[in-house]
Amino acid sequence: MDSRPPVLEAKRVRLRPFRAGDRDNLFELFSDPSVARYWSSPAWTERAQADMWLAGALDFSNPTMLQWVTADRETDELLGTVTLFGLRADQKRAEIGYSLHPDHWGRGIAREAVSRVLEFGFDDLGLRRFEADVDPRNDASIGLLTRLGFQREGMLRERWVVGGEVCDTAFFGLLARDLRR
Ligand SMILES: CC(C)(COP(=O)(O)OP(=O)(O)OC[C@H]1O[C@@H](n2cnc3c(N)ncnc32)[C@H](O)[C@@H]1OP(=O)(O)O)[C@@H](O)C(=O)NCCC(=O)NCCS
Repeated sequence: MDSRPPVLEAKRVRLRPFRAGDRDNLFELFSDPSVARYWSSPAWTERAQADMWLAGALDFSNPTMLQWVTADRETDELLGTVTLFGLRADQKRAEIGYSLHPDHWGRGIAREAVSRVLEFGFDDLGLRRFEADVDPRNDASIGLLTRLGFQREGMLRERWVVGGEVCDTAFFGLLARDLRR
């Protein structure tokens, strides 16, 4: 099965599939300690880590994952990422993850990108529910989720060990009727 993500246009950004040429911008994104601070793995130190991500993102045979580049609509350059994973068509739900290069934080770019993917999930994939697993200290991510209408559904204690640090999870969920477009 080809689960290549479709191109989705938004006002300032385009969500598009990854391509090999994204390698350098991808490395720059995830080697930034402020991006990795509350990510599920420490900041990248080797370009081979970008190659590994790209190999996964260019494998369009996994029906449980859809990975987009958040690209500048004019230059088509990678600014960030939006990923649906744990996608269960039978249960009509998916988890969502996202990142954005710090040069673009605080301008509503992530909100634009994530809400376009949510719209695609609800309208085109027929999903009923999205889930997000967030470090409870990640104010920017929690601000974004709350702005979009996600509800905090629970706290999972000591769920992750990242770079030797034990971290809790704040678990968020969004149903179509919660959505703020
Ligand atoms: C989370 C992230 C994508 C947000 O990107 P962003 O482009 O700055 O977010 P936006 O500008 O679209 O903000 C959306 C909403 O979030 C809120 N928000 C953003 N940054 C915030 C912050 N630092 N503190 C509190 N709320 C914040 C705002 O309320 C904003 O709503 P508004 O548009 O009504 O003002 C970005 O900070 C990032 O890449 N972080 C590192 C990776 C990461 O942690 N990903 C999430 C893992 S769960």
